[in-house]
Amino acid sequence: MAQLDHPASFKLLSLFSLIPHAWATLYSPYAFDPLKHLGRVSPYFEPRDAQPSSPDAPQGCTVTRAAYLSRHGAINVNDDDYEDWIEPFLSKFQNHTGTDWSKIPPLNFLANYVSPFAPGEEPETPTRIGELESTQLAADITIRYPSLKIPSRVWASAPDRTFFSGKAFVRGLQTDDHPINLVSVVEGHQGGANSLVPYQACPAYHEGNDEAKTYREIFTKPIKARFNSLAPEYNFTTTDVVGMILLCGYESVIRGNSPFCNLELFSPDEWLGWEYADDIRYHYDVGYGNPFSGIIGFPWFNATAELLMRETADEDLYVSFSHRTLPSMAFVAMGLFNNSAFGGTGAAINDTMPLDRINPRRAWRTSEITPCLGNLAIERLACKGSYGFEDGDYYRPLVNHAPQPLPGCTDGPGGSCSRSGFESFIEEKEKMFGGFSQRCQVDYDNSTDFVSFYE
Ligand SMILES: *[C@@H]1O[C@H](CO)[C@@H](O)[C@H](O)[C@H]1NC(C)=O
Ligand SMILES: *[C@@H]1O[C@H](CO)[C@@H](O)[C@H](O)[C@H]1NC(C)=O
Ligand SMILES: *[C@@H]1O[C@H](CO)[C@@H](O)[C@H](O)[C@H]1NC(C)=O
Ligand SMILES: *[C@@H]1O[C@H](CO)[C@@H](O)[C@H](O)[C@H]1NC(C)=O
Ligand SMILES: *[C@@H]1O[C@H](CO)[C@@H](O)[C@H](O)[C@H]1NC(C)=O
Ligand SMILES: *[C@@H]1O[C@H](CO)[C@@H](O)[C@H](O)[C@H]1NC(C)=O
Repeated sequence: MAQLDHPASFKLLSLFSLIPHAWATLYSPYAFDPLKHLGRVSPYFEPRDAQPSSPDAPQGCTVTRAAYLSRHGAINVNDDDYEDWIEPFLSKFQNHTGTDWSKIPPLNFLANYVSPFAPGEEPETPTRIGELESTQLAADITIRYPSLKIPSRVWASAPDRTFFSGKAFVRGLQTDDHPINLVSVVEGHQGGANSLVPYQACPAYHEGNDEAKTYREIFTKPIKARFNSLAPEYNFTTTDVVGMILLCGYESVIRGNSPFCNLELFSPDEWLGWEYADDIRYHYDVGYGNPFSGIIGFPWFNATAELLMRETADEDLYVSFSHRTLPSMAFVAMGLFNNSAFGGTGAAINDTMPLDRINPRRAWRTSEITPCLGNLAIERLACKGSYGFEDGDYYRPLVNHAPQPLPGCTDGPGGSCSRSGFESFIEEKEKMFGGFSQRCQVDYDNSTDFVSFYE
């Protein structure tokens, strides 16, 4: 400390404080974790870099009710990922004998590589790890809301990967005195908006048309060229490269790590290329690039907002498990992660996701918003004596425990939304996105625009 009085040190110190970047460069070497940039196969993590707001209730506020909508936990492997990319790569690799991999780093690990999938195994199964993650969410929620009562019901979409996540969550949350009933919500093509996978019941909805292909070819081109210069006889293709990248994610969950995540194999920029291609895919599938996303996501948001706002409700905590589609579409219905929201450039939404180059400032990052077990929470806050704010009820969303401002309604403590502001917010969204059955051009009887399974 005596050093600080020395004039030369003082000069040095003030120089550094003028250029804060110098501190960062000196004391935090560049670090990159591919698991946080894997798009659809990202394991759960809580991004805190862009805007590290506190997940605690704002000053003077307590959470009096909350709703959670979670993607299922980690799975063994998704059917389509396995059939389209991983299996073709593994099968070609296993048939190939003409290369001595041990001689060519960074591919030398392939000499002894054994697939994490047992032959003939049913690919799409929930894993023990995915269930443990879900139990961890129950522990997080228990610690986070000590005064909310344990719910009597939790909801999960019917398939194994969502239902098992629900079961593991219930195991973690319930006590001997308060058993929880896990309600299985049927998936179906004729249920209207009243399910946890309502896109299936929307005939007018179409998935993206593989808009991601352009960027997938761009970012894999130098990788293929590099690998093919090392092993010309193998003829690495886009399918091989994508298969290897997906294996990094799935194998990490199955085995705890994967040789495919090596930064010598794929550079940070290459992982970022993969991540962007996947963000394009989900922009058109379930995000702002699909005209049906908000329409399909709105009924869940509307029903949930109503459960949170009503005077008295059956539960303090409403928790549901679904697939990536519904939280993503609810983000759109709520205006979250809208690439066009700030900046006033008036850029059309599809122009914010150019197909041939990365938009590094995009808000729509699937690795961060819908990793496995990614979740959207909406909290009702009772605030009293929050300096500068009126006493009353306020509402705020959190995504993976990070508070998110509702665009156009941040008039409360900590950027939360006042009750009257929330009411107008919902009305405005209803004008944009209401009318599920009609806009989905429902062609079956008994459709509904409402989510009623929570009642
Ligand atoms: C690998 O060999 C098996 C058995 O000969 C064959 O069925 C399969 O198509 C081959 N896979 C590839 C990618 O060539
Ligand atoms: C390499 O694979 C691609 C894609 O399957 C194929 O079109 C091409 O003919 C192959 N090239 C060689 C030299 O085998
Ligand atoms: C964005 O592109 C999709 C797919 O081509 C299209 O359906 C949608 O209407 C476009 N969105 C806007 C706002 O132009
Ligand atoms: C996204 O933000 C722009 C600019 O504020 C706005 O015009 C547009 O309606 C928003 N889109 C959605 C779906 O909320
Ligand atoms: C939204 O919820 C409110 C309150 O439950 C209801 O009156 C309204 O009809 C709902 N709107 C839509 C489009 O679901
Ligand atoms: C629609 O509801 C009616 C009355 O509940 C029922 O009789 C009919 O079978 C339902 N139709 C379908 C297609 O589910």
